[in-house]
Amino acid sequence: MTKRAAGWLSWVAAAMLVVVSPQAGAQQKGQAARAAGTPPAAAAKPAGPSYAERFAGLCAACHGANGRSTDPLTPVLAGQPSLYAITQLFLFREGRRPNEAMTAVAKTLTDDDMRGFSDYIGTLPAVAPPPPATPPDAARMARGQVLAEHHKCFFCHGPALAGGQQVPRIAGQHEQYLHDTLRGFHSGKRPGYTQAMTAAVSTIPVEDLDALAYFVARFPGPAGGK
Ligand code: HEC
Ligand code: HEC
Repeated sequence: MTKRAAGWLSWVAAAMLVVVSPQAGAQQKGQAARAAGTPPAAAAKPAGPSYAERFAGLCAACHGANGRSTDPLTPVLAGQPSLYAITQLFLFREGRRPNEAMTAVAKTLTDDDMRGFSDYIGTLPAVAPPPPATPPDAARMARGQVLAEHHKCFFCHGPALAGGQQVPRIAGQHEQYLHDTLRGFHSGKRPGYTQAMTAAVSTIPVEDLDALAYFVARFPGPAGGK
């Protein structure tokens, strides 16, 4: 491991001491409030394009100008905590989260860039998904709710599934992306930064992962609408 990567690991590890708690949602509200009082990158970047401008030029084509992507396999970044975003950029750059497109992007980023883009992502308010063409299937939603409670999804991702700190917002994420990424944790293809998700899904039958993806994508809580 490079010295720089080791530095990163300890930085992220220190930040992760605040780990997983049922207050994840509340923590994120605090983060949003702080972000609202600090315009992104105003102090750090006197010259050159801001990270908002660089996001528009480099990332928006795939992730959407407001962070709500339209492609079902490209995750929504709007409403994602900055600590989660920086951890994932780090994993892509180190090749520990496999995805060609994102690894190619992440390899061009310096540590300062990863911080700048992640801080900017942390300022993007959550955007509700477009209204569904057909109303959610009540039986599948009920099944998803039972599974989510049983497997403690709310415990770590918060009562609104809005995440916080290094735990991602999952409410309103694209169903297809959720479907694939849950399978990735299940098969070990996506190892995760910690074992949290691998452990959470390892005992869940694959067909139940589909019910969870269906439910989370349509989650009716405040996060979907906020
Ligand atoms: C060519 C399209 C493309 C571009 C350009 C792109 N991304 Fe991505 N990004 C993706 C895809 C696809 C994924 C999901 C990868 C996977 O399935 O593991 C992703 C994942 C991510 C994630 C992890 C999100 C999550 O929910 O886990 C972050 C953070 C991210 N991108 C940030 C950025 C930033 C910042 C930029 C610009 C510097 C950028 N991306 C440019 C396609 C792109
Ligand atoms: C012990 C805490 C914990 C539990 C329980 C948990 N998660 Fe997670 N989840 C996390 C963490 C931490 C991450 C970030 C993964 C990493 O390490 O890179 C994550 C990541 C995810 C992601 C990836 C999001 C993205 O944008 O790529 C999805 C989807 C997800 N969790 C869904 C669920 C579901 C559904 C459940 C319930 C079956 C669940 N999680 C239970 C902690 C947890």
